[in-house]
Amino acid sequence: MTTGLEIVRTVADLRAQVATWHAARATVAMVPTMGAIHEGHMSLVRQAASLADHVVASIFVNPLQFGPSEDFEAYPRGEARDAALLAEAGAELLYAPNASEMYPQGFATKVRVSDLTDVLCGASRPDHFDGVATVVTKLLLQCGPDIAIFGEKDFQQLLIIRRFVDDLNIPVKIVGGAIVREPDGLALSSRNAYLTAEERETAPLLHATLRQAAQEMASGLTTEHALESARAVLEAAGFRVDYLEARDPVTLAPVSGIVSAARILVAAFLGKTRLIDNVPVPPKA
Ligand code: PAJ
Repeated sequence: MTTGLEIVRTVADLRAQVATWHAARATVAMVPTMGAIHEGHMSLVRQAASLADHVVASIFVNPLQFGPSEDFEAYPRGEARDAALLAEAGAELLYAPNASEMYPQGFATKVRVSDLTDVLCGASRPDHFDGVATVVTKLLLQCGPDIAIFGEKDFQQLLIIRRFVDDLNIPVKIVGGAIVREPDGLALSSRNAYLTAEERETAPLLHATLRQAAQEMASGLTTEHALESARAVLEAAGFRVDYLEARDPVTLAPVSGIVSAARILVAAFLGKTRLIDNVPVPPKA
């Protein structure tokens, strides 16, 4: 595996390296992560390397975005493995701050985006997107990249980030990265590791069902009809559906009836594991 990835843990060291690159008129792309690196993260790093001269990846398991009964403690951590994979994909610098660097004593500020954060994942995970918006704002201001890349896997998160970056005039270009999937269609996620063998066999049905609904909507079936059948399929297979909705792909406003362009988004539990996924309408070829 390629090595040569430098690790910095303070804002000062991060800024010093980025300032050196910028002084040489080079461009910098950032890929924020919470670690547990997989091919989905690596594809974002490769995309970043194709768009900028230098790539900074970050790993920070952000306590602010986990609810009290969520998996903050259990979230998989393994910096040496993660660093090797990020380097292999083309990252040159890893920013891995401690919690006290990110949230020093007395920290009291929150970034909150209204409306977009109240629906879908925001409805069942109160405060989650405030935690994401706050940490991503900090990461972008700490690093000062020209470009930052986020996956469409977390489609609502990507739209929220675009919103506050615009609203707060943060000087960075936000780029979306396509969802990386297993050969059977399951979207890669650090949380897939929590699935039992039996649940892992059922899991690909989530994407297959979304694609089917997207095809139905594209061929003129109403949103309500397509989503009702999809929900029935998922529930029959043992999923507990948190939400299954079609939304405007830019504003996330609900859509209904016959529509030509939308995003179908789902969150569903298989046992204790909450999976999310989304597909465009019309579906990709
Ligand atoms: P994390 O879940 O580690 O994801 C880091 C980035 O990888 C996010 O932009 C996410 O959308 C992207 N990603 C995850 N799985 C993917 C897949 N299968 N295909 C493509 N991209 C994928 O999302 C977060 O961390 C955090 O909320 C963060 C933005 C880092 C703020 O703490």
